[in-house]
Amino acid sequence: MAGAKKLKIGFVGVGGVAKWAHLGHLSTWEDVELAAFCDVSEEAAGKAAKQYGGQAFTDTKTMLDTVALDAAYVCVPPFAHTNQELLIAERGIGLFVEKPLATTNAKAVEIDAAVRKHGIVAAVGYNWRSTAITKEARARMAGKKISAAYAFWVGGFPGAMWWRQQAQSGGQMNEQATHVVDIARHLIGGKAVSVYAAGAKGIGAKKWEKHDIHDNVIATVTFDNGAVLCAGTGHIAQGYRTGVDFLLEDLIVTHNNGELIVKTPEREEKIKNTNQAYQEEDRAFLEAVRKKDPQGVYCTYADAAVTHEICMAINTSLETGKVVAL
Ligand SMILES: NC(=O)c1ccc[n+]([C@@H]2O[C@H](COP(=O)([O-])OP(=O)(O)OC[C@H]3O[C@@H](n4cnc5c(N)ncnc54)[C@H](O)[C@@H]3O)[C@@H](O)[C@H]2O)c1
Repeated sequence: MAGAKKLKIGFVGVGGVAKWAHLGHLSTWEDVELAAFCDVSEEAAGKAAKQYGGQAFTDTKTMLDTVALDAAYVCVPPFAHTNQELLIAERGIGLFVEKPLATTNAKAVEIDAAVRKHGIVAAVGYNWRSTAITKEARARMAGKKISAAYAFWVGGFPGAMWWRQQAQSGGQMNEQATHVVDIARHLIGGKAVSVYAAGAKGIGAKKWEKHDIHDNVIATVTFDNGAVLCAGTGHIAQGYRTGVDFLLEDLIVTHNNGELIVKTPEREEKIKNTNQAYQEEDRAFLEAVRKKDPQGVYCTYADAAVTHEICMAINTSLETGKVVAL
């Protein structure tokens, strides 16, 4: 936004996603000042401050006490969400959190309550929502009943040690497949009412050090509008598929983040995504911070907490073998 007052932005967690999904473009935006970087790794924080300007910290509270920020991004691994969001909410500044919200439902509920209490603008990086094809998908399915959705995140094996450990990542349905669970529930609408999940283990534990997450998980989620979701995730059969098929009467709409495929009995149409979803979600968030109005963000914290609750219920069902009512 040319000519506008610069918004002072801080980052908590300056690893992979902070750099490749946000800092690249934020550092070029005229109305943004990258003012502070905090990471438990002094080296990571220092490198970012050197590259983008601003000050480096290893503690969130010290960062917030030292620099008067307009908004802060939290880009830490799932297990590392402790008090950062609470401290940010207390300051009354904007909060952007990378998914997933945490490894427990209780933590997300606590943060959601703080966001509401302090009335801050809070957004979550469910970036499938800010793709142009999500808008197109909604238009193509408008006024029609979604009967079922099949959501897949079956593919590669991220190298991070925290990712393969259940206590640190919350498992793959929480860590990555949460994107497809979220876009499925976002477009299905209604409220999820029950969850059942089953999983397979044994291959990853032999193959990779410290690997204790499921190799594959398949979950069924029912909705109060009659729709049913089948969500599957795994990383043993690599390179299989990531996306969601929405099944309607004589219509299948497939959203795979990069492309929308619309199939009717007569024809198949492929629509490429046209926008930069990370830039789009960041622009919407910063405009909302400027206006102090959360309306324009693609996914509020409260909305993300609903998806998170489903992913946590999937984990509970995996542990208990029972259906979980929501
Ligand atoms: N939306 C997306 O497309 C997308 C893509 C990749 C990752 N992510 C999410 O972003 C999060 C981070 O992933 P990543 O790939 O950047 O991980 P990463 O391991 O590359 O980086 C995480 C950074 O956080 C730091 N950190 C850990 N604990 C911290 C704490 N308590 N305080 C401050 N810093 C701390 C680490 O030192 C590291 O620099 C994950 O939850 C992941 O799921 C989202």
